[in-house]
Amino acid sequence: MILHQEPFWFLNTKNTSYVIRVLPNQTLQHIHYGGRVSADDFSYYNVFQDRAFSPRILMGPICTSHDIMPLEYPTFGRGDFRAPALRVEGLDGRDVNELQYKSYEIISGKVHIPRMPQLDVNVDDVQTLAITLEDVIVGYEVVLYYSVFENEDIITRTVEIRNTSNGAIRINNIASLSVDFESADFDLVSLEGSWARERHICRRALCQGTTSLESRRGSSSHQMNPFLALADKHTSEHWGGVYGFSLIYSADFKALAEVSQYGDTRVQIGLNPETFSWKLEKGDSFMAPEAIMTYSDKGFNGMSHNFHQACRNHLGKSADPSVKHPLVINNWEATYFNMSDEIIKQFLDDCKGLGIDTFVLDDGWFGRRCDDSSSLGDWFVDENKFSNGLHNVVNHCRENGMEFGIWFEPEMISRNSRLFEEHPDWCIHCEGVEPIPSRNQLVLDMSREEVVDHIFEQMAKIIREYNVSYIKWDFNRNLTDNGSSTLPADRQKEHTHRFVMGVYSLMQRLNDTFPEVFFEGCSGGGGRFDFGILYYMPQIWTSDDTDAVERLKIQYGTSMVYPTSAMVAHVSACPNHQTGRSVSFDTRGEVAQMCNYGYELHVGKLATEEKEKIKGQVARHRALDELVQKGTFYRLNSPFDSILCAWELVSEDKEKAYVCATFQTAMPNAKTFYVKAQGLDADCKYYVKPLGITLGGDTLMQAGLPVRMPDAVEYACLAFDLEKVSE
Ligand code: GLA
Repeated sequence: MILHQEPFWFLNTKNTSYVIRVLPNQTLQHIHYGGRVSADDFSYYNVFQDRAFSPRILMGPICTSHDIMPLEYPTFGRGDFRAPALRVEGLDGRDVNELQYKSYEIISGKVHIPRMPQLDVNVDDVQTLAITLEDVIVGYEVVLYYSVFENEDIITRTVEIRNTSNGAIRINNIASLSVDFESADFDLVSLEGSWARERHICRRALCQGTTSLESRRGSSSHQMNPFLALADKHTSEHWGGVYGFSLIYSADFKALAEVSQYGDTRVQIGLNPETFSWKLEKGDSFMAPEAIMTYSDKGFNGMSHNFHQACRNHLGKSADPSVKHPLVINNWEATYFNMSDEIIKQFLDDCKGLGIDTFVLDDGWFGRRCDDSSSLGDWFVDENKFSNGLHNVVNHCRENGMEFGIWFEPEMISRNSRLFEEHPDWCIHCEGVEPIPSRNQLVLDMSREEVVDHIFEQMAKIIREYNVSYIKWDFNRNLTDNGSSTLPADRQKEHTHRFVMGVYSLMQRLNDTFPEVFFEGCSGGGGRFDFGILYYMPQIWTSDDTDAVERLKIQYGTSMVYPTSAMVAHVSACPNHQTGRSVSFDTRGEVAQMCNYGYELHVGKLATEEKEKIKGQVARHRALDELVQKGTFYRLNSPFDSILCAWELVSEDKEKAYVCATFQTAMPNAKTFYVKAQGLDADCKYYVKPLGITLGGDTLMQAGLPVRMPDAVEYACLAFDLEKVSE
């Protein structure tokens, strides 16, 4: 997998190669990333030239410049004017750096990044290349780690800075990866959006200059996902070359693609240098968050499959085979803050016999919380609403055959709360200035251990007392007033990273103490949908937008990087609370079926016919659940390009598949679409329900399934279940 053939290293996965070389002047040069190549002598590649306004360096007889070379981990100030991956300031305050090769090591398995989410460390079939470089100006060491996951066609990367110099240094920028491509003939694909319309797919052509995707919100954000893809111009969902980059991190990031004057492209992803800087004392070290990179020549679906496999096979709780995703009903859109013993008991009575696994009691059960203006941080039961703690509710829940789940927003504090009265300094704030509220709330300084301890104790008490089996973990605002009253002046810019490490430590501690509790991530819906959270929590509430039609784009876009096993979708009431749209109960159910499934409505207020449908939908989800958890997901028809959105799940053994096609609008006299399945056994026959016919896998993939918009039905959804038949 990792081959060292001096001066080259070849990092090979099943279908890809990544090639690096060390030059005679000890600079690390990037040679190739993409499809598999032989371990050839690549000395012929990237021949150097001398160019105007690109400062010269002499390498033996050759005159060249860092500015035109593909570099493996570029720095600032020694002739490369493109984006540096690393900027480290020495004792004298200067940040001119030059990295030279020192040594390398091939490790079996991976190195552990302390206090951070990451892909499995102890993996038998993974090797890690660790290349140590030394900065010849400031005097620190850099270790570049490349972990090669052969089967998933992914390589993870992290970077360690070891302060081997004589005094304190400061890291002002540290990308987790940097890759230089010799061409700029790419489209850049990102997942952008906003609250209630997360992760819409955006594709644009690259041109000279820098395209930067980032968050400085203290979370990975609704607005931009920590992901970037570079695709060949003609790459489609099913074919063509595409590179994908993603950061395993839940706070500020920056991803960029820079096209230089010579038409090459540099890609980086890592911590956002605008809100990050780290002082490193002599002898200390720092490790960057882990990044995942992948290449596929099988289009965007191929790239997505690699990300999905990495998550399902190797990412903490998301890869834990003992985890079962329960089918839930949540009371949020049914009752909002209006809850009491009576209201919730009635709600539960209405759910009786529907086959739902878990009831989740959402926001409003604690402190004196009657609206969003108070009580965050007071994680004790509101006795005005619930007379006997939550015992009545929990007992009633169990009597109705459901487990009990509950909502927390652990990182927050309301000004109007007991916690604030006791610890007014625990919120993130600038001394002497009123912190900026958002949704009437402030953020706890999770970089402080005593804050994390206090929240842990409160949560643990509730979990134990009520035998909680499920926690929905929310995060309903972004960070302002950045910094901490406990950090010295020269460490204030470490705060966002320390904040998220504090959050991770709380998540880890809860996972360790309550391994049987199931955690669902949430941040005003999908405002923190990233691999960092998915390490601790196997699923995330995809969006606060529960409108089935809007969900088509959200779920389709989210699947670019994240597997269906990570997404949650609920059937909610109509007219929809976010968009005001009315969509049939059937379409609402079917659109949600590709995710971890559930309900978020007042069953008692449904028409009898709709209530009856729930049982059928629940049974349907039981039948589809294995596909959701383990199946291969294909995007078939894009809702960003067409009125028809279609996707498919295929079982690992190709015995079963599920195709779902939904119209985003009404169109009079619309044509019939033929949706072509993917990933089936071409040589086998499949029975197609509800068409009642048997067709070859080849026919289904080449000719397709007929999808005709029924007359006078808006937002129609057609689902096909395919089952292999033996002839
Ligand atoms: C966020 C979540 C919702 C709900 C509310 C409660 O917006 O995304 O699902 O839990 O908070 O306040």
